[in-house]
Amino acid sequence: MRVISSLIDGGPAPAADPEIRRTVNPAALDEALAEVSLGDAATFAEAAARAHAAQPAWADVPAPVRGRAIQQLGRLVEDNLETLARLITREIGKPLAESRGEVQEVVDTCTFFLGEGRRLYGQTVPSEMPDKQLFTFRVPVGTAAIVTAGNFPVAVPSWYIVPALLCGNAVVWKPAEYTPVVADAFAQLILRCGIPTGTFQMVLSDGAQTFAGLEAALETGTVSKVGFTGSSDVGRRIGELCGRHLQSPCLELGGKNPLVVMPDADLDLAVEGALFSGFGTAGQRCTSLGTAIVHTDVHDVFLDRFAKAVGDAPIGDPTADVLYGPMIDERFAERFEGWLGLIRDHHTTHGSTALGRITASNPRHGFVGDPDVGRYYHPVIVDGVTRDDDLYASETFGPIVGVARFETFDDAIDLANGHGYGLSSAIYTTDPLHAFRFRQRVAAGMVSVNNSTSGAEAHLPFGGNGKSGNGSRQSGIWVLDQFTRWQAMNWDYSGRLQKAQMDVAELEARPGRLLPDGRFAED
Ligand code: UN1
Repeated sequence: MRVISSLIDGGPAPAADPEIRRTVNPAALDEALAEVSLGDAATFAEAAARAHAAQPAWADVPAPVRGRAIQQLGRLVEDNLETLARLITREIGKPLAESRGEVQEVVDTCTFFLGEGRRLYGQTVPSEMPDKQLFTFRVPVGTAAIVTAGNFPVAVPSWYIVPALLCGNAVVWKPAEYTPVVADAFAQLILRCGIPTGTFQMVLSDGAQTFAGLEAALETGTVSKVGFTGSSDVGRRIGELCGRHLQSPCLELGGKNPLVVMPDADLDLAVEGALFSGFGTAGQRCTSLGTAIVHTDVHDVFLDRFAKAVGDAPIGDPTADVLYGPMIDERFAERFEGWLGLIRDHHTTHGSTALGRITASNPRHGFVGDPDVGRYYHPVIVDGVTRDDDLYASETFGPIVGVARFETFDDAIDLANGHGYGLSSAIYTTDPLHAFRFRQRVAAGMVSVNNSTSGAEAHLPFGGNGKSGNGSRQSGIWVLDQFTRWQAMNWDYSGRLQKAQMDVAELEARPGRLLPDGRFAED
């Protein structure tokens, strides 16, 4: 069987961990895809050192030429779109249509950034003094360490890797160790896009080894920026580590994304939105719907229709036309079983014929395929969620959606923000006033009006606040601030030392009250 390992300078790194793991198809657990030989902290540190050494030469390549490399990468990904999409479906069980969309997102990201190579604008700024000019330049940060999760094994990494390379940085990418096949395939394409050897390294290692390797690299100064997508707990630790090295990482963390349904909403549209937001990718997106917050007047109708939509939705074999397939990895399934334990007696559950794992003996009506060969879970809608429930406050990465009711708009906002996450949000309404008030008061970094909480477009700022991140934003022009630093330059060609603030020309004005005070009407 094929063995996949870390790629240092484009070649396989020797195994650090004698244990060889197997990666399997989550929709067919007896189908092993590859063996994985993991690196360790030293592998990570070595990768960072090599990237660090290669970076200055890459930064010297003119930005429009770097943009060409991104253009080639976009072409390579587009040429291999179908193969990559099928690999994603095989390795993490994402329905094929979603996998194709995910690969398209990489192409879109490349399309956006190839042109940025011809912009990457700085400014010319007027000086206070004559014969002096001010400028700003974007300067690459150095080497970026990018640590990503496996639920979007190519799209989310591309949000970091593509702009980081375009801006003249080197990259050490640590994909999820449970998606090595897709990671290796994507890395092979990146390595062929024209970038010099050394500017892109890929390390497969577990969380603890990666953390230790990152600590060592920060200590020796070979990593200047960290990008991390994953849980809020790990994000906090990475934030602390980077803080000790006076660095601010780009953190994209968890969410408990609300979807508010106003009494004036188009309810069928809201149900459709809640179905995709909550159960697309089996709820394993950071943007997945956490709690539907429904006005009390429409709560019962919404719940009935939502329960019917979820009950009727095809679930199963991800190569078929299904709402969702299996849980990505065993660890996701185990955590999900834990979250099912947050359902309490005052809740009612809806949306499937049973709870927990779908098997022949715990079946789901209308299941597509054989549930026993994969790692599938029943969808569950939990009604009666309140502000005091653990289910209200916890991110639940899986096919579970809470429903809470509200009476006033203030209550809806309180429920939408009260858990402290602030990634994505949605409101269903036909009243523009509600839409704008919601935008103004919701804590989330992303707001959808009459659309899903998930499925952001690739060129809008993506990111969250509170427990969802440190305010950093990915995608579009906004991510450039993560991968470049502003350098300010002033150039004095007056031939003498002109001192800022002190040698500035004073204009002669005659201050004081000149206008007659307000008795015009009588005069
Ligand atoms: C994630 O789950 O980490 O907006 C990102 C979306 C996707 C990205 C999700 N484009 O739902």
